[in-house]
Amino acid sequence: MSKVHSHHDRVASPDLFTPVQIGALSLPHRVVMAPLTRNRSNPDNSPNDLNVEYYCQRADAAMIISEATQVSPQGVGYPLTPGIHSEPQVAGWRSVVDAVHDAGGRMLLQLWHVGRISHPSLQPNSEQPVAPSAIRPEGEAITYEGIKPFQTPRALELDEIPGIVEQYRQGAENAKRAGFDGVELHNANGYLLDQFLRDGTNKRTDAYGGSLENRARLSFEVLEAILSVWPADRVGIRISPSGVFNDMSDSDPRRTFGYFVEQLNRYDLAYLHVVEPDQADRDAGVTLVPSRELRSIFNNAIIPCGDYDRDSGNLAIANGHADAVAYGKKFLANPDLPRRFMLNAPLNEQDRATFYGGTEVGYTDYPFLESAQESAQEPAEVA
Ligand SMILES: Cc1cc2nc3c(=O)[nH]c(=O)nc-3n(C[C@H](O)[C@H](O)[C@H](O)COP(=O)(O)O)c2cc1C
Repeated sequence: MSKVHSHHDRVASPDLFTPVQIGALSLPHRVVMAPLTRNRSNPDNSPNDLNVEYYCQRADAAMIISEATQVSPQGVGYPLTPGIHSEPQVAGWRSVVDAVHDAGGRMLLQLWHVGRISHPSLQPNSEQPVAPSAIRPEGEAITYEGIKPFQTPRALELDEIPGIVEQYRQGAENAKRAGFDGVELHNANGYLLDQFLRDGTNKRTDAYGGSLENRARLSFEVLEAILSVWPADRVGIRISPSGVFNDMSDSDPRRTFGYFVEQLNRYDLAYLHVVEPDQADRDAGVTLVPSRELRSIFNNAIIPCGDYDRDSGNLAIANGHADAVAYGKKFLANPDLPRRFMLNAPLNEQDRATFYGGTEVGYTDYPFLESAQESAQEPAEVA
């Protein structure tokens, strides 16, 4: 091709189907599966064969982010959610990851400690849940005995903080042993690290409260512990700067998350995963911090999530606001979501009644395009 004309050639802008490198991970396209709690693990919080089937069905994702996974018994906040702190849990996850890999996929584990979003009945020795400060969240805990009002958590003692960091480090190490391709630190949605970061839930007067630097300290200590186990190009982090879920608030979200994301650049992580405002956030009138605003601050890949469809996902990538896009509810209901997007095929509707807990119904029985189309469109074989 003539050099003279090359600068006139139209370079097609990337879209959901353009391959991309996210840290160490080479993704064949950009349709990421968002982390989705499904409450279908074993009573000992280990993944089971049904969980293997569910994730394996979704192995065509650019990458799968696992459902949030407890780093310790203290980190548990809901019934039948998986953990990564016991050998049966590591073995269960190993089966999941092996199946996803055999199917050609990539999978990261989301590391989770719920902090105050728990209940004594879910805690070892029926202890009070822990938090940065003794502030009770509005709302109700979901327990094995049904829904119960949240109780006031116990503020973590200063000398307990290294133990919290160690829980995450151990979880990261166990995730590596289970064969994951990386880990995502759950710093979003009102769980422990988000409770430290935002000033509505953090009233501490020690090195972990008060200034922005202090409120962000635990997240960065945890990140450094994770990075003692994993290379940075296999570690991501999830934040929800606009989120009010789990009774969260901050006096200045733009400043808090602007600082936090700027500081994240020190770690050269694979990606920043941003939960975008949903209708509840908008209704609550919080300061909205869309991921495209963080684009100018963060140096590496950004993955937004929240109410994206095929067109808005393509647009976010084409205009440079996103490097990949994560899909939650649509991936839950469409195991072959990337293929459906590629073909611009219709999507299955999600059934909210089966989101959290239950059987294979609403979990592994959402139809693939082939079976849906074959039954609807293919002419019967003529014998
Ligand atoms: C059933 C369900 C479970 C979820 N579990 C998690 C989770 O474990 N970790 C997390 O960070 N977000 C979780 N989320 C939030 C989703 O990852 C995502 O941010 C949200 O659903 C918005 O994206 P969507 O509109 O594409 O579904 C969950 C959402 C749903 C609907």
